[in-house]
Amino acid sequence: MLIDGRPMRTIWRAGAAAVEIIDQTLLPHEVAVARLADLEAAVSAIADMQVRGAPLIGVTAAYGVALALEADPSDAGLDAACGRLAGARPTAVNLAWALARTSSAVRGLPPEQRAAAAWAEADAIAEADVAACRAIGEHGADLILERARAGRPVNVLTHCNAGWLATVDWGTALAPIYVAAERGARVHVWVDETRPRNQGSALTAFELGAQGIEHTVIVDNAGGHLMQQGEVDLVLVGADRIAGGGDVANKIGTYLKALAAHDNGVPFFVAAPSSTIDWTLAQGVGKIAIEQRGAREVTHVTGRTGAGRLEEVLIAAPGSAAVNYAFDVTPARLISAIVTERGVSAPADLATHFGRTP
Ligand code: MRU
Repeated sequence: MLIDGRPMRTIWRAGAAAVEIIDQTLLPHEVAVARLADLEAAVSAIADMQVRGAPLIGVTAAYGVALALEADPSDAGLDAACGRLAGARPTAVNLAWALARTSSAVRGLPPEQRAAAAWAEADAIAEADVAACRAIGEHGADLILERARAGRPVNVLTHCNAGWLATVDWGTALAPIYVAAERGARVHVWVDETRPRNQGSALTAFELGAQGIEHTVIVDNAGGHLMQQGEVDLVLVGADRIAGGGDVANKIGTYLKALAAHDNGVPFFVAAPSSTIDWTLAQGVGKIAIEQRGAREVTHVTGRTGAGRLEEVLIAAPGSAAVNYAFDVTPARLISAIVTERGVSAPADLATHFGRTP
């Protein structure tokens, strides 16, 4: 997608044994590129959220394995790298999925061939993510287009950032918006700011603006009111892990939006690639590990001062305790449909849709 009119991806190869990323901790204030040249750089890029979003975390982890194998291609090196990367963030299942896929592609090879094979597998995972997200866009665009009415935009509410910045390109929840716009629909997006890290106001608003999509940033508590006023035609969010039975873990606050949508008869859609489905779990509520991050993300915010400096400031009462759950789980019964690269499915039919026994 575009930044300043220039097509970009979130991660790309940089020479024989490194990757580069957009450092998302600096957006929307600065578009800076960071270089990842070893395992530790990949681990901290994921843990510190220079890259974030379930699909992009998975792709970065696959490249992290390749970087690690450049230094130590032994079985022990492979296992240690997968362990370090798997521990970087617990909720998005794409991370474990990408590690399993990359390590099984290389484990049977002699050590001297492993790094090259890992690079090739990581490239394949990245390209497959782009294709899956584009396909999600094609399938999901119909959900928007069928709500188009003359003289007004289709109003979509989204939470967190599930756009191209959360993937390699296109995005998950935002891909249908981009494709609907390509097909001529007028779409307006209500962007939840998404405390505590503000992925909505910082990232979703940034990328929608760069693509020329109408949008308005709202505080996280405004969605219910807008739905009561008939100002939301559909809710469209991403996912970090989907249980086989259709429960969805996504950014903290998603569950509250689903409750409000249910109460107001507003359709609530989830968009994610199949790499986000955890077939080992039937249900998600109480079963999916919910990441807890540092309290400082709640008590402080970073922004740009009038003088142009990036500064972190305290916004909570000094000394108060704070807790920072990064995700919640929305039960399948509150979800109208799940959009994947295979099409649109009712949550209860997800397994059948993928040819699995529920
Ligand atoms: O904590 P983050 O920023 O990595 O959270 C991930 C998300 O952006 C969302 O929850 C998103 O909806 C799923 S990833 C496409």
